[in-house]
Amino acid sequence: MVMRLKTIEDCSFRGKNVLVRVDLNVPMEDAKVTDDTRIRAHLDTLDILRRGGARVALASHLGRPKGKVAAGLSLFPVSQALGALLGCEVPFCEDCVGEKVSARVASMGDGDVCLLENLRFYLGEEANDPVFAGELAGPFDLFVMDAFSAAHRAHASTVGVTRFLPSCAGKLMEKEVTVLSRVMKDPRKPMVIILGGAKVSDKIGFIRSMLEKGDVMLIGGAMAFPFLKAMGKSIGDSFCEEGTEAVASEILETAKRTCIKIILPVDLLAPREKGDDSEIEVVRADSIPKDSKGFDIGPETVALFTEEIQKAGTILWNGPLGLFERKLFGEGTRLVGLSVADRTAEGAVSVLGGGDTAAAANMLGFAQGISHISTGGGATLEFFEKKGLPGITPLLMP
Ligand code: 3PG
Repeated sequence: MVMRLKTIEDCSFRGKNVLVRVDLNVPMEDAKVTDDTRIRAHLDTLDILRRGGARVALASHLGRPKGKVAAGLSLFPVSQALGALLGCEVPFCEDCVGEKVSARVASMGDGDVCLLENLRFYLGEEANDPVFAGELAGPFDLFVMDAFSAAHRAHASTVGVTRFLPSCAGKLMEKEVTVLSRVMKDPRKPMVIILGGAKVSDKIGFIRSMLEKGDVMLIGGAMAFPFLKAMGKSIGDSFCEEGTEAVASEILETAKRTCIKIILPVDLLAPREKGDDSEIEVVRADSIPKDSKGFDIGPETVALFTEEIQKAGTILWNGPLGLFERKLFGEGTRLVGLSVADRTAEGAVSVLGGGDTAAAANMLGFAQGISHISTGGGATLEFFEKKGLPGITPLLMP
């Protein structure tokens, strides 16, 4: 069954003080937001609340300050980026609990919006401390959870606060849960999973669960190296996350039993000289020279991956297949992305998750061809693995 959430349409909020948990954990450089995708993702929710006369305070984390105030992780620059998108001033509150918040909220009119300071400046946030959650809830009448990408964290602002306030899902949360639960419940077969990025450790639970549900797994990026190593191949100087060979080996064994086809790169692109990527060469993935590093999948691998993608009914993709930020090593991800977009145009459902993967899709020009680009990275993987998330449970219809 597709999960049914209590949504903002089920609540009345005119003239009410509404706390909205958003995920404004956005990339920044020199105190400027460099990619506002995550901010834009909440605009529908904000629009509905503001037009309906709510007095909105936004709460988010930024980075991992571990309970300490860190000037570089203040959300102040985000309030300016948000103001530019909304076309109005978004006052910034220098705290997320206490008197400053109460005073700010008391000064707001219907339809106003303000942004609170980084929740993770308090230890109580990640500890899901009930006292902190109560303080957070204090000045408000309603809680709207719109941060799907933080819903895998059972924190005070995602879970704890729902014990103190009537709570519902925002539009972004609703959209993510509707699309992902449909795919999880009734995927069109065959289901092809594309995995990339640097770390296997982040994805072990997801991979294990997909060994039961998926049909084909295409593995690229640095993710592939523990698998190649576990198969006894020489991976040269390529990055291989420490201590992951054994788990890769176990995954390969399980795949034989569950009959899921795992396809690893057969060729890779490497910089021709150490540290210099002005020229590239194609190396065999089973015998990478000692001082060489694989930075992208090669043309034969792209062809193998594409062949599977062109038969897929559902495609789940997490993690770029190469160092796409460097022009010479984005081609594998781009070509696979275009193939996914083609297949999607023919009727397959494609779901892409993770900040890097979304950034690659935008940068390499295939984002428009994907059925759904999730704002979640870890959240999307855990949603599929655990069939739900702690930040979603309190929002479910009875
Ligand atoms: C993310 O960037 O995936 C979310 O904002 C969650 O951040 P976290 O991994 O620091 O909890």
